[in-house]
Amino acid sequence: MKKRILSGMRPTGKLHLGNLHGALQNWVDLQNSGDYECFYFVADWHALTSEYNNTDPIKGYIQDMVVDWLSVGLDPRRSTMFIQSEIKEHAELFLILSMVTPLPWLERNPTYKEMKQELADKDLSTFGFLGYPVLQAADIIMYKAHGVPVGVDQLPHVELTREIARRFNFLYREIFPIPDAILTEVPKLLGIDGRKMSKSYENSIYLSDRGSVLKTKVESMFTDPQRMRKGDPGRPEVCNVFTFHTIYAPHADLEEIDRECRKAGVGCVDCKKRLVQWVLEGMKAIHDRQDYYRSHLKEVREIIVDGCQRATQVARQTMQEVREAVKI
Ligand code: TRP
Repeated sequence: MKKRILSGMRPTGKLHLGNLHGALQNWVDLQNSGDYECFYFVADWHALTSEYNNTDPIKGYIQDMVVDWLSVGLDPRRSTMFIQSEIKEHAELFLILSMVTPLPWLERNPTYKEMKQELADKDLSTFGFLGYPVLQAADIIMYKAHGVPVGVDQLPHVELTREIARRFNFLYREIFPIPDAILTEVPKLLGIDGRKMSKSYENSIYLSDRGSVLKTKVESMFTDPQRMRKGDPGRPEVCNVFTFHTIYAPHADLEEIDRECRKAGVGCVDCKKRLVQWVLEGMKAIHDRQDYYRSHLKEVREIIVDGCQRATQVARQTMQEVREAVKI
């Protein structure tokens, strides 16, 4: 039996290249490795924790997100894709786990403190927001996942999941495996202004950006700040454009860029022109599939329905065991 892995994403807007190379590509690689049974889901209830007063766009985001997943190569024959809110068992397990999770575990969660600060314009003094990791724990252990592919920012949540699972196993019965985070080294892509790529900074290159939009964004990217003139030698290791090259350029070209940049043989403008070509080329297959799925939304919906059915089977089974263990 292959080990199961599970991961989720909140539908809070369209996906950008930071999401693709930070997480999604990893999901695809894990799927393609053939080593795991993969479950990937849209965490729409989690989106409510911060977007409870702005729920209109969520449905649209869910569909866009699944279209993007399919476009980057998630394959419904090999991965189970589903929507959290369609599997009501998550709510039941969340409730039960909330009974056994000590409040201080949640209050000292660093992600909780950070997010509350970062999203200071929103009122996040809610029960649901504090309980975010309990819902996440329910998502993960529902499927008895052994691995959870996530970015480092999610480590505290996986750690809490492990503690909650241990506590359940100790209090009732050994039902849940203790999941491990699966971290993979990923290149750190910054936004076009050199800050973290984020929707709220308006510095993102989206999976849906094409042609002139893509070109303009790449051409406006910040480079090595110390390289003021074309004649100054550059430092690829601190240049975000170079990081993009490491992903999109063929190996020989990458070495040449590295060499020429260091001796001021190529200027940033030309370097970016080359990058535009590689990115356009690299994204072509993704954009073609995006076109396909956007004009075949019925097929997308069927994929989701099918994924939800498969997830439901597992969730029902787990909840039977949970109810027996808890004697309720
Ligand atoms: N908290 C995750 C994020 O913001 C999303 C998420 C919800 C998740 N449930 C999960 C990730 C379960 C992995 C496993 O990215």
